Amino acid sequence: MVLTEKEFLQIVSFIKQNYGVDLAGKKALVEGRLASVMAKGGYETCSELLARVYKNPLGEEVSTLVNSLTTNHTFFLREPEHFSFLKDTALPELAEKNSMFRDLGIWSAAASSGEEAFTIAMTIRDFFGPEAKKWDTTILATDISTKALTVANAGIYDAERVGNLPAAWLRDYFETQKDGKYKVCDEIRRQVLFRSFNLMSPFNFKRRFHIVFLRNVMIYFDDATKRELLKKVYDAMEPGGYLFIGVTEIIDRKGLDFEMIQPSIYKK
Ligand SMILES: C[S@@+](CC[C@H](N)C(=O)[O-])C[C@H]1O[C@@H](n2cnc3c(N)ncnc32)[C@H](O)[C@@H]1O
Repeated sequence: MVLTEKEFLQIVSFIKQNYGVDLAGKKALVEGRLASVMAKGGYETCSELLARVYKNPLGEEVSTLVNSLTTNHTFFLREPEHFSFLKDTALPELAEKNSMFRDLGIWSAAASSGEEAFTIAMTIRDFFGPEAKKWDTTILATDISTKALTVANAGIYDAERVGNLPAAWLRDYFETQKDGKYKVCDEIRRQVLFRSFNLMSPFNFKRRFHIVFLRNVMIYFDDATKRELLKKVYDAMEPGGYLFIGVTEIIDRKGLDFEMIQPSIYKK
């Protein structure tokens, strides 16, 4: 499939304006991913598909387009140093500070197919042990890809996707299915609420977060978009809360009072 320059620019501008993802210079990727969307929907040209998208911005075509153009690569225990820090430093400190209310606000802000949020939930369960029941540590896990969220909600993964996990986690936090797949156990699944949410929207959360994982998503945004997003994230966090970004990411902290604790770990 070949996109005209005009069609390509239309797609780039639609996705950037609505979702922040910057696809400029990625024509081959866009063409590759759109090919199957167009074939499935029976579209002859990309302009036809776009006309449909503009006509009904909340319709099925938009989800299909977003599902195809987002990169949802993720895995359990990705960037393990974050989970060691969570267990050894952030959780002991936050648990002590909040021991009266026993309530922590936690957000996995680009959750993809759920591995990150479940890894957080398992780390929390390990940290609190049997006391976990006495705490509200529900994790809000959001993404714009409905396809990724469907996988996340099911909580079922192929054996090779859980192969890097400690044996104790596989034993305690998963059930093996007849087809050889692994299903996250109910106790852990109950700890995570998956929701569709666009990071470009205004943040109207009922509560502020003690822990935010915003990893490997800002790489798709330009600098201005990143700055605006970080400002919103900062405002949505509790003082003393921790922000985790991807280990290869760099943020501009100008105007934000984040203290760098380690590269990729910040404290409000
Ligand atoms: C590469 S995955 C990162 C997953 C996980 N955080 C990790 O580090 O493994 C990036 C995710 O960001 C999501 N995403 C991209 N733009 C977004 C937006 N505007 N709002 C919410 N999620 C977005 C994509 O759908 C994708 O699932």
